[in-house]
Amino acid sequence: MSRDRDTDTGTGGDSGTAAVAGPRVHTLVPGPSGWPLLGNLPRFAKDPLAFFEQLRGHGDMVSWRFGRNPCVFLSDPACIGELLTETERTFAQPALGIAFRTVMGNGVVVAWGADWRRKRSLVQPSVRPRQVKSYASTMAACAVELADTWADGARVDVRREMAALTQRIAVRTIFGVDTPADADAMGRAMDVAQQEIGKEFSGIGAVLPDWVPTPGRRRIRKAAAVIDAEVARVVARHRDGDGERPDLLSRLLTAVDETGAHLTDEEIRDETVTLYIGGHETTSSTLVWAWYLLSRSPRARAALTEELDRVLGEREPGFDDYARLTRTQSVVKETLRLYPTIWLVTGVAGEGARIGGVPMPEGTRVWTSQWSTQRDPRWFPDPETFRPERWDPVDGDEIAEYAWFPFGGGPRVCLGTRFAMVEAVLVLAVLARRFDLDVDPGDIGHVPSLTLQPDRDVTATVRAR
Ligand code: HEM
Repeated sequence: MSRDRDTDTGTGGDSGTAAVAGPRVHTLVPGPSGWPLLGNLPRFAKDPLAFFEQLRGHGDMVSWRFGRNPCVFLSDPACIGELLTETERTFAQPALGIAFRTVMGNGVVVAWGADWRRKRSLVQPSVRPRQVKSYASTMAACAVELADTWADGARVDVRREMAALTQRIAVRTIFGVDTPADADAMGRAMDVAQQEIGKEFSGIGAVLPDWVPTPGRRRIRKAAAVIDAEVARVVARHRDGDGERPDLLSRLLTAVDETGAHLTDEEIRDETVTLYIGGHETTSSTLVWAWYLLSRSPRARAALTEELDRVLGEREPGFDDYARLTRTQSVVKETLRLYPTIWLVTGVAGEGARIGGVPMPEGTRVWTSQWSTQRDPRWFPDPETFRPERWDPVDGDEIAEYAWFPFGGGPRVCLGTRFAMVEAVLVLAVLARRFDLDVDPGDIGHVPSLTLQPDRDVTATVRAR
């Protein structure tokens, strides 16, 4: 067991989280019985998160069937760590569908093997902590612009507000685009692309062969064409511009691989769009869930505002405040524990794959879920309760390594971990210092689409503090 508090692990080195505590020997136990041909597929399709919790109830390493395919589900953090750190060695990621590939091209999320290693090493420097520091003022400035439009008693659609805010931040930090016309055209096309990827991921598109034309796939191609044209225009402007700009695109344009080669224009397009799609909805949903949880927990809200008043007083936050805003960081971590926007990790066993001492036959699909592991009472006492103080640097609980992995882990850990944490903390700090959001009464359910979404609109009343 170790105290895994460092959420920046993925951006500093390539290996992500620290070494897994020694392999534990496990036994593979049978999961719930399934249908002759469909296996456990119907139950999975109906409610994957409830199904994962059911699998967890059977044991730490459980066999089940996705259709006719043999699968294993992991609930022990040590085993989860093995799966994550073995990705790119004895485990492969399943190929991503046509929707992802049409929008993200062959960017770092889609790429595999040597191609992925080259791309990751080229993109990684642009999201290192030192670079994130240079994006922080844009993040805070965008949040201040939003705060200036809010007034006491106003009614807001929290999902729409957070999506528009994180979109503005993504477009400005990645593309350096500031004029609303550019940002709007790009943003609208990205929105369509993102929605359609989500529908493909959780709908019939997930099982249809790539060549089958569907209205959704046509919409994705149309959106991708707009994105191509917009990115090409922005890249051309950057190439013609004088001097270096403080955006991610500029850093990618000057990045060189070990042979001295630059990314091609097509690669630049793929990586910038990948960073946008990878970072936008994940962060905006996290902020929506944070407002919901804070609104239902006056204690957590009071502790947060106490910190903001003490650390910031009357001023707006900047990057240097990030390290001091430990309770705000805890709010984000605890939100990501209860509502991990990426809720599923899966790998396909290759030759010689083993987990917890158990050989995994080649082709076995191994699954784990942030949702079920992060709500396991063995690792998080009182797991359903929103308790940011469990993350406090001094008095917090001991957290088992890989019991909390909203950003994944191992070689393919999220490239934007630091970016996302700084963005979420600064946005919350700017807005919660000036306002409370009273989310309308009633429980809000979740929909496990491409990211974990609320099952309905999240409307709130703004209260000036
Ligand atoms: C709260 C926000 C975020 C969450 C929860 C999140 C979560 C994740 C997870 C779980 C993975 C690994 C997926 C897998 O199993 O392969 C991942 C990968 C990735 N994320 Fe994030 N992410 C967030 C924000 C961001 C941001 C802001 C960016 C970009 C600025 C970003 C860029 C990426 C990229 C490029 C990858 C692929 C890395 C690779 O395959 O080498 N993410 N993210």
